[in-house]
Amino acid sequence: DNGLPLDMIIFGGMGDLAMRKLLPALYMAYLHGNLPASTRILSTGRQELDREAYLAHVEAHSRSFIASTNFNEATWDGFLQLLEYVRLDVQAAPDFSALAHASRAGAQRVFYLSTAPSLFITICDKLSDAGLVDGNARVVLEKPLGRDLASAVDINEAVGKHFAESQIYRIDHYLGKETVQNLMVLRFGNSILEPLWRAPNISSVQITVAEEVGVGSRAGFYDSTGAMRDMVQNHLLQLLCIVAMEPPTSLTPDAVRDEKLKVLRSLRRFGLADIARDTVRGQYTRGVSGNQEVPGYLDEHNVPPDSRTETFVALRAHVDTWRWSKVPFYLRTGKRMQRRSSKIVVEFANPPFPLFPETPGGVANRLVIELQPEEAIKLQIMAKQPGSGMQMQQVELNLDLHSAFQQRRAEAYERLLIDVVRGRLTHFMRRDELEAAWEWADPIINGWSVLAEKPHAYAAGSWGPAESFALLARDGFSWME
Ligand code: BG6
Repeated sequence: DNGLPLDMIIFGGMGDLAMRKLLPALYMAYLHGNLPASTRILSTGRQELDREAYLAHVEAHSRSFIASTNFNEATWDGFLQLLEYVRLDVQAAPDFSALAHASRAGAQRVFYLSTAPSLFITICDKLSDAGLVDGNARVVLEKPLGRDLASAVDINEAVGKHFAESQIYRIDHYLGKETVQNLMVLRFGNSILEPLWRAPNISSVQITVAEEVGVGSRAGFYDSTGAMRDMVQNHLLQLLCIVAMEPPTSLTPDAVRDEKLKVLRSLRRFGLADIARDTVRGQYTRGVSGNQEVPGYLDEHNVPPDSRTETFVALRAHVDTWRWSKVPFYLRTGKRMQRRSSKIVVEFANPPFPLFPETPGGVANRLVIELQPEEAIKLQIMAKQPGSGMQMQQVELNLDLHSAFQQRRAEAYERLLIDVVRGRLTHFMRRDELEAAWEWADPIINGWSVLAEKPHAYAAGSWGPAESFALLARDGFSWME
């Protein structure tokens, strides 16, 4: 806290993200006294609304996203007092003078860009023209940051004209999740794992981010995006980075981001043959999810009937470093999967000599890190089955982080917004990191369009297409549900 009054300026202030995540997160930060005393939140939007109408919209669309246990009428009213609405249509010859007028001179300005990325450049140019960008200003860039390397570079260049890198917060909300941050502690706050954390002790790594939800009302955005750009290029790669990175020398933003960057740059590039062999695209069809019949992707509102957009991706990646030589990293994400479940499974090599009678299908040791909705760390080990023989059985050491720490967990957006306010960049992506991620993803996305194959069908409520299981089976592995 630098003692300045805070003006939090949200572009896309009427949008879905603002209603579902940003305002509830700011409310929670306010409730816990984590916003500077003189904070104001200026929401901008293109709708012609006055302040009252905006507040009514927030009541109707945002309030319900605050857990009732955290809800307090008086605090909510206090929070609403912080809100202003500024009409600003970025697309139509925007006039930033109303915003310049509303924002206090000398305030610490945080611009939260939660619009289509195609508007980021205009917004930054106009903010600068209006004299709103000073040395204290910070800008938060919501994903997707471009749709390929070229557009990401354009955005970075344009934003970089007005903001120094240390003022730019590229958000990946997975980095704000408690369990994801805990991964760093698991790896580098303990000494027992690190000596084993390499080839050939580790035989494979799986990273799954499965969602139960479908595309919902977001088809307009999602159909031109797909799971690779929406999830893999950012969230899954960030998880991979934390699993695969070398120990940083400190927790300063650059020390951590330097190590992540090295991982991204070591990711093996995919040629067409690799794409055909090592990637699987899927698209959900009608099925049963959460005990309900749900439509297939092609029948969702606003999805073109011949869409080939993937709602599922599985792939086999390699980090070409000494530490990870030959260790496959299997990544998988999809919508409308059987249930919401994000986990990382680190599979250790089996003992070199089979002393005990083999367990059918048994892998001796796995470290399972459950990120959501469960928050747990499990270690599968072999134990002797009681009895006169020496039969082994797999059992689990189970650390349930929810019962270990019973205090409240802040949501990712709350934690990250507080980081922005306090000027902490460690859990945000640096420019080179983002671009390295696109450098890896671009050839895959382009290769898919060259191959021009339809995505494989999978029924809503399943674990994805059969080809995804085959991808691992080929190497003698299988997905852990
Ligand atoms: C977002 C994607 O970045 O992450 C969404 O755009 C996805 O499509 C969401 O549903 C998943 O986030 P979480 O926190 O629910 O796992």
